[in-house]
Amino acid sequence: MENEGIVELYQPRHTLIGRDGITMIPHFLNRLGAKKVLVVTDKGLVKIGTAGKVTAVLDDAGIEYLVFDGVEPNPTTKIVYAALDFYQKSGCGALIAIGGGSPIDVAKAVSILSANGGKIEDYNGVNKSKKHGAPVIAVNTTAGTGSECTRAYVVTDTEAKSKMLMVDTNCLAHLALNDPMLMVGMPPSLTAATGIDALTHAIESYICNIHTPYTDALALEAIRLVSKALRNAVHDGSDMVARTDMCWAEYMAGLSFSNAGLGLTHAIAHQLGGFYNIPHGLANAIMLPRVLEYNRPYCMGRLASVAQAMGEKVDNLSVDAASKQAIEAVRKLCADVKIPPLCETKFRMEDIDTLAKNALLDTAAQTNIVRATLDDVKTIIAKTYYEGVVMKKVNANG
Ligand SMILES: [Fe+2]
Repeated sequence: MENEGIVELYQPRHTLIGRDGITMIPHFLNRLGAKKVLVVTDKGLVKIGTAGKVTAVLDDAGIEYLVFDGVEPNPTTKIVYAALDFYQKSGCGALIAIGGGSPIDVAKAVSILSANGGKIEDYNGVNKSKKHGAPVIAVNTTAGTGSECTRAYVVTDTEAKSKMLMVDTNCLAHLALNDPMLMVGMPPSLTAATGIDALTHAIESYICNIHTPYTDALALEAIRLVSKALRNAVHDGSDMVARTDMCWAEYMAGLSFSNAGLGLTHAIAHQLGGFYNIPHGLANAIMLPRVLEYNRPYCMGRLASVAQAMGEKVDNLSVDAASKQAIEAVRKLCADVKIPPLCETKFRMEDIDTLAKNALLDTAAQTNIVRATLDDVKTIIAKTYYEGVVMKKVNANG
């Protein structure tokens, strides 16, 4: 499919990457003519002062704002409607999302719903809305989700216990902002999980069935940067070189998957998030190696390039061996940044049928390099689970 026909490319209208980028927000709000804005964030980011760094900039510029801090991880339809109600009663003309994927996704949903009406499920799928919503300034505080630069947002359907993936060019941010200073306080475990999420975006978009030369370039550089910087960012959160590298990596990986597609890792991770509230980055990090093993026969050449981008010495290896090396390098990176096994999460084997069925229906599964069967997905999940159990026993026995 690649390189055939017309390809449309997507990106946020404006992007800022770099230290103290948040000081530029008033400039963009003034150009939008927005007199009052709604800040969408979560209580944790208010508590640790990250949201306050952004609102201080608004205070200094004399910009009026209100704060909705009710976003939670894996945001539900209920949270989206609460934020929408707050927005519609506030008289605000723009949204500033501060956070990782969750607050940014809620702001995108509010933007689409306020302009188009209806219910969230009306927009489940691809380009279901008619109008671009209120402008969103997406201030990213994690280096992982890529939500600030993508045309996608995810909302958990509380009743169905699954996630809806809305892919919609009308939700693209007016401004995507990656300021590494906002990421300094991120704890090691969150840095690790969101960093592997970025790696997963890059690898899945690189090996998916609708990649292009544009997304390939973005993905390979993102893979190189994550491999170079993530261990350092996890080890020392104040390492600004590593934090800045991760800003670039996550943004490029986000653009890559937004313009290509994802794969089975995300399709399964979305279910683990919807079912057990397992954080998105963590769910991806846990599933990635086994999904790559499943996909490997269909994309060996591409995985060999992944190995190279990860800094592995593969020049003298066969394509088959180099592709295996890529998966080993992913496993090693996950181990080095201490990603826990599936058996240490709330996952229960008795749910495997439902999880696998829903994963196959997920939008991300549609662009996986090979069409998986129900048994394939169940096997991937079961192998991941039991592999973790064995590893845990080995570690416990010293
Ligand atoms: Fe992701």
